[in-house]
Formats: sequence, C-alpha cells, structure tokens
Amino acid sequence: KQTDNQLIIDAGQKQFGATSCGSCGMLYSTDSPEDNFQHTQFHQRFLDTIKFVGWKKERVVAEFWDGKIILVLPEDPKYATKKAEDVRRIADSELGFQQITLSSPSSAKTYLFINSDRMVVGCLVAENIRQAFRVLEQPEKPKDMNKEDFMERHRAWCCSTVPEKALCGVSRIWVFSLMRRKGIATRLLDTVRNSFMYGSHLTKQEIAFSDPTPEGKLFATKYCQT
Ligand code: ACO
Ligand code: ZN
Repeated sequence: KQTDNQLIIDAGQKQFGATSCGSCGMLYSTDSPEDNFQHTQFHQRFLDTIKFVGWKKERVVAEFWDGKIILVLPEDPKYATKKAEDVRRIADSELGFQQITLSSPSSAKTYLFINSDRMVVGCLVAENIRQAFRVLEQPEKPKDMNKEDFMERHRAWCCSTVPEKALCGVSRIWVFSLMRRKGIATRLLDTVRNSFMYGSHLTKQEIAFSDPTPEGKLFATKYCQT
C-alpha cells in the first residue's frame, strides 16, 4: 500500500542518493564518488569475512530452522579462532571500539550464529566476571540533537556504584544489519545462558552487558524483562 508518507520518504532518498547495499548492508550515497569507493573497498572484504565454509570440528551448541550457533574457545584450532577474531573485528568497528583487546582473552567464549546461507550473521563474546554495576536510567534524546551526537555523548553510561553479583559478562553482541529483528541476538543470549557454565543454567540477572550502545540497551532492556 503506497501512502503519501511513503512517497515523501522515497523522494527524500532519491535527493540524497542514499542507498543501503542489499548484500553488505552499507549505507552510502551513490552520488558521491568517495562513498562509492569506500563501498567497493568494504563490500567484498565484509562478505569474505562473514562467509563460513564449515569446519571439520564444529562445536554446535544450538540448531534452528534458519541456522545454528557454534561456540569458539581460545584453545581451538587457528582457523576457528581466526574467524571468531575477524568477525569480532567487524563488530568492533561498527561499535566504534578502538582497541580490540578483551578484558580476559584466555576465558573469552565467542558464539557465532551461522545462517542457512553459510554466513556468520551474529556474534557474541562472553567472559567470566564476578560483579557488575547496573546501568542507570538514561535521559531522553533532546529534540534538537541528532542520533549520532546523542549516541556519542552517551557512550559513557551512568552506572550505579553498588556492585551486583554476575557470572557472565557480554562484552560484544552484534548482528548483521540486514538480519536484525529476527531474534538472532535473543537466541545467542539464550544459548549463552545454557552453555556458558557447564551443567548449569544462568538466569537473566546473572548476565551483564558491558558498555552497551543505545541499541544494545534497548535490546537488553527488552530481553531482561521477558
Ligand atoms: N530498537 C528497539 N528495540 C530493539 C532494537 C532496536 N534497534 N533491537 C532489538 N530490540 C528489542 C525489540 O523489542 C526486539 O523484539 P521485536 O523485534 O519483537 O520487537 C527484541 O529487542 C529482540 O531483538 P532481536 O531480534 O533478538 O535482536 P537483533 O538480533 O536485532 O540484535 C542488536 C540486536 C545486537 C543490538 C543489533 O541491533 C546490533 O547488532 N546492533 C549494532 C551493534 C550494537 O549496538 N550491539 C550492542 C552493543 S552493546 C554490547 O556489545 C555489550
Ligand atoms: Zn555492498
């Protein structure tokens, strides 16, 4: 159904020439030579990174009709840890993380969601922790501020000073932009709760998100309530 609204939105996109690539998801302006160049640079590298050819030994921790989740541990063969690291790097650059050091690399567990097209479309890094600080309620975005500025300014979330007991820290959670809102992050977290500690099931309260982005916070708030 085409409404007046729809027409206005389309016209706006044409004017700025903004397009989202249907394969890699990058948002860029087709009118700008520099944007086109950057997209060409990014496109193939991105698709190569998320391509998953399959391994001789895969630690499959969950299976679904549209994919599976595999767990990669630090002591795994190089081909596995390298894939985990490459995908984590993609997530990090999207999250704006500068350095790619983990707080405890020797205990980090990487969960990868592989879809039926053999692409890594989700990544979650979980680490052992003992305590966490609850993120306090955030102010609303002022009307005169754009989303990017707001996100930048609120990277440092206000945290409670009272430590709470937690066992598992999620330092990264990322889902491929074209595959969002399909429950992939939810399924990654459910799987972490079942498999992070051998033989026990973690409650939602025993999991903590470190330094969440606004999107991550929206997701985490929803996840922890349901
Ligand atoms: N806006 C509002 N609500 C949201 C959003 C959003 N952008 N994303 C998720 N939710 C809520 C919704 O209620 C959603 O349920 P619904 O789709 O039925 O409405 C519910 O969370 C479950 O969402 P999922 O489909 O499981 O989440 P998804 O697979 O889309 O992944 C994620 C969410 C990981 C935040 C994804 O948007 C992403 O990768 N964003 C960019 C990277 C990022 O910001 N990651 C979080 C960093 S914080 C950290 O790493 C500790
Ligand atoms: Zn592309």
